Amino acid sequence: MVALEKAPEASTGLALRIENLSHGFALDGQHLPVLERVSLDVAPGEFVALLGPSGCGKSTLLRLVAGLEPADSGRLLADGEPITGPDPSRVVVFQDPTLYPWRRVWDNVALGLEAQGLLKTHAARVDEALDKVGLSPFARAYPRQLSGGMAQRVALARALVNQPRLLILDEPLGKLDSLTRITMQKELIDLWQRQGYTALLVTHDVEEALLLANRVIVFSDRPAKIQAQLSIDRPYPRHRDDPYLVDLRRQILGLLGLGESW
Ligand SMILES: Nc1ncnc2c1ncn2[C@@H]1O[C@H](COP(=O)(O)OP(=O)(O)OP(=O)(O)O)[C@@H](O)[C@H]1O
Ligand SMILES: [Mg+2]
Repeated sequence: MVALEKAPEASTGLALRIENLSHGFALDGQHLPVLERVSLDVAPGEFVALLGPSGCGKSTLLRLVAGLEPADSGRLLADGEPITGPDPSRVVVFQDPTLYPWRRVWDNVALGLEAQGLLKTHAARVDEALDKVGLSPFARAYPRQLSGGMAQRVALARALVNQPRLLILDEPLGKLDSLTRITMQKELIDLWQRQGYTALLVTHDVEEALLLANRVIVFSDRPAKIQAQLSIDRPYPRHRDDPYLVDLRRQILGLLGLGESW
């Protein structure tokens, strides 16, 4: 019998390895460099937040990690395996919930399982995911019957139903009012603590990054390079007026070019 050789990468034990990743687009016949030699390692179960100026390349990075398009150069590994396309173990939640209006909440959440042919055997997962986001009573509602925050929670349930190892969040709370946003931040942390997935969150909100993440990565202007990394060594739940976080917020805003007045 031939012994199966473990790929060398698998021994790194990383949930995600981004190695020397560069990427660009064609714009008006010119090459637009967007990511420049970005390297980042993420441990299993880590919650990493990405901050950076608008248009610097954060969503592009998430799309590459999700496998939605191939990178120009560099390497991307999830659990030690090269990322070659989308996979249910890596799920993205975007800023807009993009629910199918003609499907009830339950059927929207069921989409991922349906696509994998798992719905018959794993239907209970849909109920569990709805329960996790507190929407069981709305399982039979249509998206138009939900508030914005509820619709975003359906999008989160639709991602969770796949039991992803890596949850990729692209400003998932960006369009919510500030009160719903605070509630959803708490829910995200609760879910993450209970589920143990690895999370990669893009947000424009420095405070949100500091409340949620174990580590905050600050990108430069386009082409995005990692400008700074900060470990947030604070237990959960965190408090926005914690002087340690307030100080970090000031430092990060400085890095983003927003001076003392903020
Ligand atoms: N499909 C595409 N074709 C051409 N250019 C693109 C494409 N997608 C993104 N870009 C360009 O890449 C750059 C980075 O875009 P990206 O969406 O990654 O930024 P971002 O950091 O997520 O910004 P924001 O914070 O505003 O969401 C932008 O200049 C954008 O115009
Ligand atoms: Mg973006």
